[in-house]
Amino acid sequence: MALGRAFSVGLNAFAPRVVEVQANTSRGTPGFSITGLADTALREARDRVRPAVVNSGFKFPDLKVVVALAPANMPKSGPVYDLAMAVSIVLAVPDNKVSSEKVPSTVFLGELGLDGAIRPVRGVLPCLIEARRAGFARAVVPMANTAEAALVAEIEINGASTLGEVCRWLNGEFVLDTSAPLVDDTGPVVPDMTDVVGQSQARRALEIAAAGRHHVLMTGPPGIGKTMLARRLPGILPSLGSDDSLEVTAIHSIAGTLPPARPLIVEPPFIAPHHSVSMTALLGGGTGIAGPGVLSLAHRGVLFLDECAEMGAKALDALRQPLEEGEVRVSRRDGVATYPARIQLVLAANPCPCAPAHDVDCVCSVVTRRRYLGRLSGPLMDRIDIRVRMNPPGNAALLTEAGEPSAAVRARVVAARAAAIARWAQHGWRTNGEVPGPALRGEFRLVPAAMRPVELFLRDGRVTARGADRALRLSWTLADLRGADHPVEDDVAQALLYRDRGGFA
Ligand SMILES: Nc1ncnc2c1ncn2[C@@H]1O[C@H](COP(=O)(O)OP(=O)(O)OP(=O)(O)O)[C@@H](O)[C@H]1O
Ligand SMILES: [Mg+2]
Ligand SMILES: [Zn+2]
Repeated sequence: MALGRAFSVGLNAFAPRVVEVQANTSRGTPGFSITGLADTALREARDRVRPAVVNSGFKFPDLKVVVALAPANMPKSGPVYDLAMAVSIVLAVPDNKVSSEKVPSTVFLGELGLDGAIRPVRGVLPCLIEARRAGFARAVVPMANTAEAALVAEIEINGASTLGEVCRWLNGEFVLDTSAPLVDDTGPVVPDMTDVVGQSQARRALEIAAAGRHHVLMTGPPGIGKTMLARRLPGILPSLGSDDSLEVTAIHSIAGTLPPARPLIVEPPFIAPHHSVSMTALLGGGTGIAGPGVLSLAHRGVLFLDECAEMGAKALDALRQPLEEGEVRVSRRDGVATYPARIQLVLAANPCPCAPAHDVDCVCSVVTRRRYLGRLSGPLMDRIDIRVRMNPPGNAALLTEAGEPSAAVRARVVAARAAAIARWAQHGWRTNGEVPGPALRGEFRLVPAAMRPVELFLRDGRVTARGADRALRLSWTLADLRGADHPVEDDVAQALLYRDRGGFA
């Protein structure tokens, strides 16, 4: 009986864990099995690992081979363990003459091709952060993942192309690539606000939404720039801080959507699923290593739901809990997994199903109209601080010069965000959009003069208690954008106007 071992790192939902791979050989009917809560996809690794070992010129034991993955109670999936399994098997055969000296301090990540080539895998960033935490000194990763791997400091990254190279490296006969790869640091091109003509109210609403990280709804007839404006929101948002940047990158790493040459995400993501998006695509999960849903891909960024009135009631309802808690809970075969999902929601909708260019041409019945946007009402709408009703720009507006460029708007947004961060720091909130109602009415209650507009609206029944909270929350952002310490009466009065501009009570 002989034993070979190697370490890898796997993902259980979003939680990475170091996995020890042990290859045991013993007398008995020759065969190859994998134990340790391996799913079907992982068991298929046998069909890759054996040819990869043989085709790399090593001996595959002609014995009973059992590869055990520990911890045994962690569900394991995917091809990431291929390389560690192959290394442990090669080491289990003394005739292969491969040294195990570096093995205890190394993690191996990679999928194998039948010829022994090492293919890229998902989740390298979170896996290596965990390996570093667990005290590993170095990692062997697929060459195509080296730029991403290099984002993790204080762990030596070795890029490898084949199993043969890795084994010769273990023997000190080959040098794996440890150079920091060239990183393309040109960001994605975001369209500019300067393209949007007119729509000054909606532009202003978007600026306020960006500054306070408020959820926003835009309604209006087709072809007036709703989608156009929403797509320009990323250009006026502040960049992610370095911690957020790594966190967001880790999620996209697991999803397998990182561009290999530009792996670090530094700008807030903008995710725009179709209104027919499935529940799994929205929330994430599914079988195998859990894919993040669009809600998690939009973490610390923007989730844009265009034509949101066309979305199913179930999907709209599923947004509520993540909006409240900043994370998604998904039931899986092996329990409930939690994924981060702190999103800024941007909704766009036509006011009715027939969507004429001018409201007077609408052919829908009153009931149909009410029902159409009514789908959005209730607890979801309670979270939307800004509702803006857009109208067709007059012909005069279309002839006027270009709008203000994104860079100028962004500068104001960045300054306002900084003020909010300073104010809320000790409370654990980062943006005005996160501040809960009780705090707005309690500790941060405005002076009586500033509260007056809200009280008048409440007394006349023109605003609900929740609507009043939204107005107060928004008034802080208006004050931050003015560079003021706190909102005054006029900020609150203005904020109240954003309450029902979408055509909602
Ligand atoms: N305010 C505007 N400034 C400049 N171009 C505009 C404006 N509004 C609309 N357009 C032009 O019309 C096109 C359609 O606009 P957009 O897709 O944003 O409309 P929409 O309001 O989302 O309509 P729909 O309800 O049909 O989705 C844009 O690509 C742009 O060329
Ligand atoms: Mg549109
Ligand atoms: Zn209509």
